[in-house]
Amino acid sequence: DAPYLLRITPSQLKQMNGRKGRDAWTALGGMVYNMTPYVPFHPGGAGELLRCAGKDGNKLFNEVHSWVNYENMLAACRVGILVEEGASTT
Ligand code: HEM
Repeated sequence: DAPYLLRITPSQLKQMNGRKGRDAWTALGGMVYNMTPYVPFHPGGAGELLRCAGKDGNKLFNEVHSWVNYENMLAACRVGILVEEGASTT
């Protein structure tokens, strides 16, 4: 794995739900993205986008627009790799 990517568990991801001044992270395709800089630009609006904040976004994302190339769009927003709960994060 790339050394600059964090290893992030589902419970850590859950903290980053966009509330209380926290950034809004989501997991797509096993990668964790910080959506915060993208929120104002989402064509579907902030409210819709933030429904996947703090959790695995694959289901919601694919229900709406499975064709959207999030890997390219959010490449600069990638913060880490989603790992299993209890897995080593160092
Ligand atoms: C539209 C990106 C997550 C709901 C779009 C479009 C893009 C985009 C590029 C325009 C698509 C087009 O016009 O062909 C993203 C990215 C996401 C994300 C990068 C994740 C990080 C979500 C989620 C939802 C959602 C989680 C809903 C739960 C919508 C809706 C539209 C839309 C409703 C249609 C807006 C319209 O055309 O009026 N999104 N999206 N998106 N997105 Fe997302």
